[in-house]
Amino acid sequence: MTAHRGDFPADFAWGTATASYQIEGAPDVDGKGPSIWDTFTRVPGAIADGRTGDVADDHYRRFREDVAIMADLGVNSYRFSIAWSRIQADGTGPVNPAGIAFYRTLAEELLGRGITPYATLYHWDLPQALEDRGGWLERDTAERFGEYAGLVASELGDVVGDWITLNEPWCSSFLSYAGGIHAPGRTVGAHAARAAHHLLLGHGRAVPAIRAASPEAKVGITLNLYSMRAASDSAADRDAERRIDGLVNRFFLQPVLTGGYPQDVLADLGETEWFAEHATRDAADVATPIDFLGINYYSRHVVADPPIGAEVVGEPAGLTYPGSESVLFVDTGAPRTAMGWPIHPEGMVDVLEMAHAYRPDLPLYITENGSAYPDTVVDGEVEDEARRRYLEQHVMACSAALQQGLPLKGYFAWTLMDNFEWAWGYSRRFGLVHVDYSTQKRTLKRSGTWFRSFLTGSGDVR
Ligand code: FCB
Repeated sequence: MTAHRGDFPADFAWGTATASYQIEGAPDVDGKGPSIWDTFTRVPGAIADGRTGDVADDHYRRFREDVAIMADLGVNSYRFSIAWSRIQADGTGPVNPAGIAFYRTLAEELLGRGITPYATLYHWDLPQALEDRGGWLERDTAERFGEYAGLVASELGDVVGDWITLNEPWCSSFLSYAGGIHAPGRTVGAHAARAAHHLLLGHGRAVPAIRAASPEAKVGITLNLYSMRAASDSAADRDAERRIDGLVNRFFLQPVLTGGYPQDVLADLGETEWFAEHATRDAADVATPIDFLGINYYSRHVVADPPIGAEVVGEPAGLTYPGSESVLFVDTGAPRTAMGWPIHPEGMVDVLEMAHAYRPDLPLYITENGSAYPDTVVDGEVEDEARRRYLEQHVMACSAALQQGLPLKGYFAWTLMDNFEWAWGYSRRFGLVHVDYSTQKRTLKRSGTWFRSFLTGSGDVR
């Protein structure tokens, strides 16, 4: 089976995605304030290689070179994120003109190359000053986010038409406030669900604020969704599937797309009362109709809740999944990337179907999809055949989704270039472009040349 770009609609968005903290560097120039990642990367042991995003890809200074690389790839779209603390150093008050100027220049550079900017307003880098006041556990942070979103849209609405409020609120709540794995590295257990609610309320505030500032804007949110399977038909394994699907998928899809939180998940979390008292009144705001849903798809979870003593190989869900800590993520023997994430291209169709079932009229985008491998440059080339295959298989899954009639409007490869991979530091490479961090030299990998030949029509997907 082969796929050609010509098999996709002419207006299909083909892009790459990045995030501010992972690429920009320049953490304290031009009036930028510290974010929770500037702080967290300094906590001993928090980052696998002990490094920070202080330099990263030096994109803040090299963005023109990076846009030129994208133009050469042939993408028509680019998803980047805006660092809140470049716009408001402490998360409040008037905009910092230098911060706005950076993103305006970036957007203009993209438009000049025929590349449509998709701006994410929050890819995890909360101003530290807001974390000092309680971060996403506080309702006020949602109000601040709504204000920030409106300010940015009124400054940049003439050069950015497509907005994503939040990236993966599951990560910035459960992984960050329950698992302690991402900034701010807190472990408050099931109360992390309150952070999730405040993130979603912030989204609910941001959508009308963006539209008020820029009436033509298209606004969406990006969720990380997982294809989900029970390891067996046993009642316990099926319940494990219900729980984990509930925490990572339904807990975000339902409030945003139809309104209200899944009661079974609130019960698993022991948070029914708090939500009844504090979140029910926000249901309509959180569910403010959006123009599209972004989905980040990487993998499938196969889960089990085996009886004590049973021999099932897997990783316990642990602190990140409050109330469901003992569920096992089972090793089925499926091939994995260097992140240890099992590869299941067909699972991408599962998550598109999952979202589609909530709101059949809603346009969908894959706003991230990609793979990490330990690449090396040999004679100026990076032969990343495994990543090329991963990309090819997932592009074919997009084609299958379209053939099924799913309203898929675009695909963004994660990521343009190797970068700071959060808790993994620089030890995991996801780029289509290799970055030598000692020289900042960019080298297009084989996966990148493959994507270019697909996009420019000079090659087939084989
Ligand atoms: C996603 C994040 C992105 C990147 C990829 C590998 O969860 O949105 O920033 O780290 O994973």
